[in-house]
Amino acid sequence: MVGLTRVPGLLFGGDYNPEQWPEEVWAEDVRLMAEAGVNMATVAVFSWSRLEPGQGEYDFGWLDRVMDLLHAHGVAADLATATATPPPWLVRAHPEMLPVTADGVRLEFGSRQGYCPSSPVYKREIVRLATAMAERYRDHPALAMWHIGNEYADHTLECFCPESARHFRTWLEARHGSIDGLNAAWGTSCWGQHYTGFDQVEPPRTAPGPVNPAQVLDWRRFCSDALLELFEAEKAALRRVTPELKVTTNFMSILHGLDYWKWAAAEDIVSDDAYPDPADPSSHVGIALSYDLMRSLKQAPWLLLESSPSAVSWREVNAPKPPGMMRLHSLQALAHGSDGVMFFQWRQARYGPEKFHSAMLPHGGTETRGWQETLRLGADLGRLAEIAGTHATAEVALVLDWDSWWGLEAPESMPSNRLRLKDLLLSWYRPLHARGIAVDLAPPGRDLSGYKLVIAPNLYLGGEELLSYEGELVVGPFSGVVDVNDQVRDGGAPGPLRELLGVRVDEWWPLPDGTAQKTDLGTASTWAEWLRLDGAETLAHYRGGDLDGLPAITRKGRATYLSCLLDDVTPVLDEVLARAGVEGIEVPAGVEAVRRGDYLFLLNHTTTQQRIALPGAGADLLTQTAMSGEIQLAPRDAIVLKETR
Ligand code: GLA
Repeated sequence: MVGLTRVPGLLFGGDYNPEQWPEEVWAEDVRLMAEAGVNMATVAVFSWSRLEPGQGEYDFGWLDRVMDLLHAHGVAADLATATATPPPWLVRAHPEMLPVTADGVRLEFGSRQGYCPSSPVYKREIVRLATAMAERYRDHPALAMWHIGNEYADHTLECFCPESARHFRTWLEARHGSIDGLNAAWGTSCWGQHYTGFDQVEPPRTAPGPVNPAQVLDWRRFCSDALLELFEAEKAALRRVTPELKVTTNFMSILHGLDYWKWAAAEDIVSDDAYPDPADPSSHVGIALSYDLMRSLKQAPWLLLESSPSAVSWREVNAPKPPGMMRLHSLQALAHGSDGVMFFQWRQARYGPEKFHSAMLPHGGTETRGWQETLRLGADLGRLAEIAGTHATAEVALVLDWDSWWGLEAPESMPSNRLRLKDLLLSWYRPLHARGIAVDLAPPGRDLSGYKLVIAPNLYLGGEELLSYEGELVVGPFSGVVDVNDQVRDGGAPGPLRELLGVRVDEWWPLPDGTAQKTDLGTASTWAEWLRLDGAETLAHYRGGDLDGLPAITRKGRATYLSCLLDDVTPVLDEVLARAGVEGIEVPAGVEAVRRGDYLFLLNHTTTQQRIALPGAGADLLTQTAMSGEIQLAPRDAIVLKETR
């Protein structure tokens, strides 16, 4: 049982914002935390203005008392560096540090994350504050890990101010070497954009027409890197003072804006904030994909650092979680490799934009349904302590590449704006998930040799990384199209994959909204291609319409190519799973089956009782009952079976 931190077992707790409450309330907080089995609290995330009310005037007293109280009640601190919102005095002294939109509007103070990622002032000040925090709390017994910033890119992903432009130019010079290098990479001969100096280059602000897509792609890379520089600067400051303490920053599930492969490599613990919509009966599938990404980022246990006990406060309509759903969703995160369950937040706020966001301790106090659910989950997590540190392995990998994603979803210049990477990923993930088949996510450059089946739902950019993989491979449409600079491959798609796949794409055939294209193996919407065989055989033809009789799905050796986005990939998937020798766990629809080490999680996401044939025998850790054969799983209930070998 090796946990993520020195705290034994699974982590349980949430964001704790004691500065929003009079000190009398704190005693009740820690007493109730102990009652619920809380062992970790995230503190000081947005506390900069209270910790440093004026430049260099620190007021650590209140946080000292909070840390002492937490420790006295057995609660460790995921201590934030408090840099997520710069205080008003800093912003007023340096108004140029507020972010500017692509239209040139400088955003006001009054929310959070009000900083330009490239502001030298902000960077200098966060390093100073992180150092002060580390020096203050380095020896505090409550301190278990560092929480750097908060949800990078949540509100501020990019800034278009002159400082950002300077930073972007430095980044571009390092990437392209010279202005000629940039001209070549960006294809500036098109539309008369040839530059003669870096000083002429700007971020892709709002322009009269479509902006150069290669410029936009570099901008996406730059924005991810610029925020990562901030994270790295704080990490370096913390490392100088507390070299032994692990650092994290909370990710936002599968997020377009940040290249999480790069980010995860920079942190010690991967953590995630996950908010599946309780009103969406299939939200557990999309979030499972995110959780599998979190586990895959470092191929290790990770931490669900935020989730919601019931409703959030930022959707158009904020549906609550009905009884049992919070527990079920929490167990789901554990099944997919989290070493704990944490929430936003501990005590429900009485003011501010999140006063209607649910919390572990609701406005109504300990009489509420919410509090009873908190107590129940705490008790359950205690029973599951032994799963901490165990890891799930998978035989199937889905390839995910941020460069490709950014290129694919570039605005204004694609054959269709309807081809979205998440849809492509989910079209494969959904049936894999339904079959109880464990899935890893993988960057194209990772060693894939351990997988029996690799599926690249889309690799618009790149593709050559797949050539060394020798197992069963599936490649989705619109892949191998462009190089690293978004320039179309000579001879067309699938570019570097042409020989491996044995096909050539003559023409993209995006399908207008509301239309469909039949194939022998199902119906496609959104996307099709005019394909020519060049060594491959046809598994399915297009049927009807202008593509009638042309190849839709092809195979050469171990490599299958889908030139369309099928509404249901099941027939293709089942066939390649059989070829690869991958087997799942049979469960009724709406029941999720996930193995984590020796533990089998069965999660009933439906609202009816389900009959399940257990694949083996064992004991349910939640009820301490021996189980085998056929079982009945109540609505929104779960079992965690420790399988006997
Ligand atoms: C994010 C933030 C939290 C809080 C929650 C509310 O995850 O990190 O501070 O705002 O959203 O859902």
